[in-house]
Amino acid sequence: MKDVFKSTQIADKVHWVGAIDWPVRDFHGYRTTRGSTYNAYLILAEKVTLIDTVKAPFVDELLARIASVIQPDRIDYIICNHAEPDHAGSLAKVIEAVKPQAVFASKMGARALQQLYRLDCVQAVADGQEIPLGDMRLTCAETRMCHWPDSMVTYLHDRQLLFSQDIFGMHLAGYERFADQVAPRVLDEEAAKYYANILLPLSGFVAKALDKLSAMDVPLSIIAPDHGPIWRDEPRREAPNRGKSRSEHRIVASYARWARQERTDKAVVVYDTMWKSTDLMARAVGEGLAAGGARARLLPMSGSHRSDVATEILDAGGLIVGSPTINGQMFPSLADVLSYLTGLGPKGLVGGVFGSSGWSKEATKQLQAAMEQMEVELVGPPVNATYLPTDKDLGDCYKLGLDVAARIAR
Ligand code: FEO
Repeated sequence: MKDVFKSTQIADKVHWVGAIDWPVRDFHGYRTTRGSTYNAYLILAEKVTLIDTVKAPFVDELLARIASVIQPDRIDYIICNHAEPDHAGSLAKVIEAVKPQAVFASKMGARALQQLYRLDCVQAVADGQEIPLGDMRLTCAETRMCHWPDSMVTYLHDRQLLFSQDIFGMHLAGYERFADQVAPRVLDEEAAKYYANILLPLSGFVAKALDKLSAMDVPLSIIAPDHGPIWRDEPRREAPNRGKSRSEHRIVASYARWARQERTDKAVVVYDTMWKSTDLMARAVGEGLAAGGARARLLPMSGSHRSDVATEILDAGGLIVGSPTINGQMFPSLADVLSYLTGLGPKGLVGGVFGSSGWSKEATKQLQAAMEQMEVELVGPPVNATYLPTDKDLGDCYKLGLDVAARIAR
């Protein structure tokens, strides 16, 4: 395989040796429309070091890419920045093939690797610990809960290169290894989707991780995450009061914005319909939002995936939900998406509820309870229609849109 699956050099003596998962479409509930990559990196220092591995089914691809550069048994150290199976699922097999002198992880990582894979050979490194590689050196920095308690990043001083594990990643399969080779629209979409679906509930930890990286006071010429393309070639600026050149990566600025959960004038209407009554109400809400100056996005759950809804809500100011009542319940699609969104925990939303029913109104009561659990600030009581919405019902939906717009439009 090594004559087919080759490495990509990303810096002097640093190679990408990961795997490309073209067909994957589900990542624990997140629809990965464009596939993914599991990135691993080989540092050809005096102590040859492998940073992370890949999902278990891709171990041969990883070993082949390593073998295209160096015999795998020349690897001295393996560093596991994150124990989740998409990065450490093949670690046991790689250790068996390589027989490294040492395997390093964070303290929580060493514990997780034992609990997940029964690996007892992992040495725990302290937060901030340096690992000398002979002619190069790495520093490890814990980034707990970005994405799991074990998560850490490693910084290669000699190349100003941060191995950032899940942070700054995206699910995007491709042969383009660098972000500047990918269409900006695709980068923006997939980076936001990744943050919304993986890191949003951990935004407080993300903010701490960004502060920690900033406090390390090191230049970041290259950011190499564990998924998707590698960030390089960003514009530079002179850092005030420091008198030295600093990198300014757009992805870092985006993370700072997302971690603050900055809201915009966008309002998302998430709904489903049985006989088109709730659909008609949703469209009346949308007209009211637009008339009030908000940017309305209607997402019928018949054609929307929960992970796309989460992405739209990442920077939205408004969330309005609607459902018919079926068998005394909200539609299953609404129950699914609201359960998912409650887990992601977006903050600072303004919203409302609407729905139609024949002889009972359970759906809107359940929607309201779900929105209150999510701490969405409701602008008024639910709008209910019986069977077919009347002109008054549609007027109330229009007003609901206007009222939400009044709170978020600029
Ligand atoms: Fe890409 Fe948290 O694993």
